[in-house]
Amino acid sequence: MVTNNRGVSPAGPARIYAHIVGWGMAVPDQIMTNDDLALLVDTTDEWITQRTGIKQRRIAGETETTATLGLKAARRALDVADIMPETIDMVVVATSTPDHIFPSTASLIQAGLAANRAGAFDLSAACSGWVYAVQMAAQAIQSGAIKTAVVIGAETMSRVLDWQDRGTCILFGDGAGAVVLQGSPNPGGVLSAVLRSDGTGGDVLGIPSVGTIDYVGDDVGLPELNGHKFSKMHMNGGETFKFATRVIGESVTQALEMANLTIRDVKLIIPHQANLRIINAAARSLKVDEGLFMCNLDKYGNTSAASIPIALVEAVEQGRLKQGDPVVFVGFGGGLTWASMVVRWGAPMPEAGAFKKQRRALTYSWARFRSRFARWTRQFNQTVNRVRPEQGRIERLRHRIDRKLP
Ligand code: UT7
Repeated sequence: MVTNNRGVSPAGPARIYAHIVGWGMAVPDQIMTNDDLALLVDTTDEWITQRTGIKQRRIAGETETTATLGLKAARRALDVADIMPETIDMVVVATSTPDHIFPSTASLIQAGLAANRAGAFDLSAACSGWVYAVQMAAQAIQSGAIKTAVVIGAETMSRVLDWQDRGTCILFGDGAGAVVLQGSPNPGGVLSAVLRSDGTGGDVLGIPSVGTIDYVGDDVGLPELNGHKFSKMHMNGGETFKFATRVIGESVTQALEMANLTIRDVKLIIPHQANLRIINAAARSLKVDEGLFMCNLDKYGNTSAASIPIALVEAVEQGRLKQGDPVVFVGFGGGLTWASMVVRWGAPMPEAGAFKKQRRALTYSWARFRSRFARWTRQFNQTVNRVRPEQGRIERLRHRIDRKLP
């Protein structure tokens, strides 16, 4: 990624807007129903449906990871945008379940896309992460620093769930959603965003990871992490519920004010898909019909940072968004974090080109080969270099012994 002053003319900076021009999603094939869950923990389909609205979720297979799901979603988004991977400047992945701490999941996806000019990084803001990531990319585009970004929300929550804790394991699922953001002089796209955090609620939900220590007391002002399982998700459901119902209305109203719009202008709200009761409470607090909210949590459960982009893709496929429609994204979750964003939907859609599609497929095959070749070359060189110094040392030793040198 090379940043420059693109978009700045002698007459002053030309205004650049960040539009969503491509979208795609990927979920595992494997479905886990509420009845399946009732075989694992003490719960029922009736309880889960009444308390959450969730009926089923997708669970990653053995060869599926956050990166593989994110890559699939990103490739689909590139197909819709009909752009070549080499035009991408930035790949951002919002996730709480990265394949590794590093390399970032974004770097793995960047390699899989053969986005060879792109910078790549992961962003950690739990279930609000995708909205945060879109805003980071949009601001880079609006400033003229970059032109095209791929922003992905991807999770394999099934790998961090405590499958003995019925309070959390019934809620979550796996999946990925992605968008392509591109700069354009046409007014619209990302209009405003409110990104917020309250770290004093850090103990309300979280996943203790590699840096966790078992300290006692809060002399450094950090929340207590003692007692939670390493690498497993813990959540205080009631507190999260109260927090979510409070911040959705507040932050959506704020973001709309910043965009000079009111709730009456909004055509669709795409919330983080955590719980149907939270969404209904948000509709009451904003004094709008529940139908204004996109909801697909019955099919996928809570896919954390992936839930909003997955719901966006399904909203587009259902024809719920038209050119010029104001749409609101709102996320909330661990941190505590929350984020609302207003987008005016629709940049001119490119003609889908079969030729470019074939070129993309070839590029992806080449990317796979290149990654394997690079790994193989590194391994080969390591082996050779390991043997050579060792051989040299033995040679020198033999030389010394033969000549009986000290
Ligand atoms: O993406 C991150 C954001 N996360 C969220 O937004 C989650 C927000 N919180 C929630 O969605 C809800 O708090 C839950 C769905 C997690 C829990 O619903 P709730 O209505 O707050 O239930 P509760 O925790 O107050 O529990 C009520 C009862 C308890 O039994 P008693 O003490 O009344 O006898 C629980 O033990 O329900 C019991 N319970 C269950 N029963 C059957 C808790 N989980 C289950 C379960 N099946 N899975």
